[in-house]
Amino acid sequence: PPSRRAYHEKVLDHYNNPRNVGSMGKNEQDVGTGLVGAPACGDVMKIQIKVDPTNDTITDVKFKTFGCGSAIASSSYLTELVKGMTLEQAGRIRNTEIAKELCLPPVKLHCSMLAEDGIKSAISNYYKKNPKAKQTDLGGT
Ligand code: FES
Ligand code: FES
Repeated sequence: PPSRRAYHEKVLDHYNNPRNVGSMGKNEQDVGTGLVGAPACGDVMKIQIKVDPTNDTITDVKFKTFGCGSAIASSSYLTELVKGMTLEQAGRIRNTEIAKELCLPPVKLHCSMLAEDGIKSAISNYYKKNPKAKQTDLGGT
């Protein structure tokens, strides 16, 4: 199992050098915006995706997270993961993969859940704006 030190290194790396921080124009047709909150702690995460409508692929992704270090690290890692994925692939990401990569302890699992909820919410928003796009079953959360 990963050492406590390894856990801190991955979380701190994303926390100190978060990837893909920023915003995109939420009114643009090819941008999907997800805004989710964690009831447990009040932390908030915004995930935005830009989609190439010809192949349903995520070409760019940005996030802003007002939350703990684990939530920031989870969203930063998520953005690296989903860039280049199809909407269908991105919709299948589970928080457990994120938690595993970052070695999050059980009390921080909900921080990675925010990232899963955030990408699903961004995908749903994209489909709402582009009803003709191929719909992906995001499952019930
Ligand atoms: Fe190490 Fe929270 S990131 S204790
Ligand atoms: Fe709530 Fe991390 S403590 S998102």
